[in-house]
Amino acid sequence: MHFCFKSSNSNKLTNCRLVLDLLPAKNGEEPTIQFLLEVVDILTNYVKKTFDRSTKVLDFHHPHQLLEGMEGFNLELSDQPESLEQILVDCRDTLKYGVRTGHPRFFNQLSSGLDIIGLAGEWLTSTANTNMFTYEIAPVFVLMEQLTLKKMREMIGWPGGEGDGLFSPGGAISNMYSVMIARYKYFPEVKTKGMSAAPRLVLFTSEHSHYSIKKAGAALGFGTENVILLSTDERGRVIPADLEAKIIDAKQKGYMPLFVNATAGSTVYGAFDPINEIADICEKYNLWLHVDGAWGGGLLMSRQHRHKLSGVERANSVTWNPHKMMGVPLQCSAILVREKGILAGCNSMCAGYLFQPDKQYDVTYDTGDKAIQCGRHVDIFKFWLMWKAKGTIGFEQHIDKCLDLSQYLYNKIKNREGYEMVFDGPQHTNVCFWYIPPSLRGMPDGDERREKLHRVAPKIKAMMMESGTTMVGYQPQGTKVNFFRMVVSNSAATQSDIDFLIDEIERLGHDL
Ligand SMILES: *Cc1c(COP(=O)(O)O)cnc(C)c1O
Ligand SMILES: *[C@@H]1O[C@H](CO)[C@@H](O)[C@H](O)[C@H]1NC(C)=O
Repeated sequence: MHFCFKSSNSNKLTNCRLVLDLLPAKNGEEPTIQFLLEVVDILTNYVKKTFDRSTKVLDFHHPHQLLEGMEGFNLELSDQPESLEQILVDCRDTLKYGVRTGHPRFFNQLSSGLDIIGLAGEWLTSTANTNMFTYEIAPVFVLMEQLTLKKMREMIGWPGGEGDGLFSPGGAISNMYSVMIARYKYFPEVKTKGMSAAPRLVLFTSEHSHYSIKKAGAALGFGTENVILLSTDERGRVIPADLEAKIIDAKQKGYMPLFVNATAGSTVYGAFDPINEIADICEKYNLWLHVDGAWGGGLLMSRQHRHKLSGVERANSVTWNPHKMMGVPLQCSAILVREKGILAGCNSMCAGYLFQPDKQYDVTYDTGDKAIQCGRHVDIFKFWLMWKAKGTIGFEQHIDKCLDLSQYLYNKIKNREGYEMVFDGPQHTNVCFWYIPPSLRGMPDGDERREKLHRVAPKIKAMMMESGTTMVGYQPQGTKVNFFRMVVSNSAATQSDIDFLIDEIERLGHDL
């Protein structure tokens, strides 16, 4: 550690520097630059090691261990300033005890990978440190957002890329926007008079749906009982006939069906609902159709795979998270809306201190009033920069490669001894499977086997985390006991990493 550098006007070492020595302090340039270069050094080292397969994915510690403090690293906040040298140690240790989500063997989340251009974009964004709410203070970023949203709408297939949209703090919030604007479309008076101005409204979504729609139902005053779950087939796709039956049933009870959520790439199975068939029903009964492409939206960039979303252009709104399948650093999620102006209609409050109508520029670029937030983080720049750097074609290659890798995994294990697939023929990169340890292989199906199998994936996962070699998710679903859900969105992953995962599951699970 060499952060106690020489003072500029004497040859003896001064005391270690403190934050007060940095800009805006007088003569603060030199220590500031030195400090930042040290930070960059820590970060670039971390980046380099993240891509090195001999590095562990994580160095697991229990919460109480981290809270008690590790050697030289203490989470407690202090009244007195710490030296910059200690601050650098804190930076290094924060990364050390974290999880390397960019590691080629990190498969735990739908968001993974570490895109270098995206990272640079995030650094720039923090350096600019501005707020998306007005053109006044974010002129370049606001225009980038408008332009990128238009491009995304073109990919959805809305004529001329017309429509509306915003980047939001994640898919759950983007989904919530869709419910809000659907309600505003049919019952605008709810904005001023509240839910008593509307009949009892019901929302429909897949039983495999991410919990965010239920959460939106609760948060927006619909009530979770008015979120009706639709049955799915064995691959997790909504059955359109079930939707129609449930709409008719709701109407007979005197309720008002409002909104249907179709999923393009469900979180666990990666299932794509049949959008065209659902759209037919929505048109027939005059319902808002939202397509949740938080996970699957990225496939629109692939000529080979975009057919899985066919019919998406008939949606009234679409959620699409570039921070998942497209590898954009967290967070980056868009809500896209076919009808122009409706986001503003639904959410604007025209705060006089931000959105003065008499500014010298075209104030339609003050997009902040469309949001339910006030201040909004700049999520666009890293995405825009990645798009510039890769071209649309680069995203397409990334997506095709991830789907090829998961096909490789599927082919590898579908007939392999000790594996059972949860469903056949994956549509997205989700491959869901049980690993059956030798001790369970001869056992007849029944409660005992189920209970034992239920404990296998969590045990393997715990050992994986303790040894830090790889990470993959697991969960139960409906009546199915815990199974592994493998997903690939990490651009660093290769076939050898898939092979490694399987070897590791077998190594750790063999004696269970
Ligand atoms: C991940 C996911 C969400 C939620 O997105 P966040 O960005 O985590 O809020 C919603 N829907 C689906 C289908 C998802 O996979
Ligand atoms: C729609 O369903 C998907 C998954 O099936 C879910 O992720 C999402 O939260 C739901 N969104 C809305 C707004 O209903």
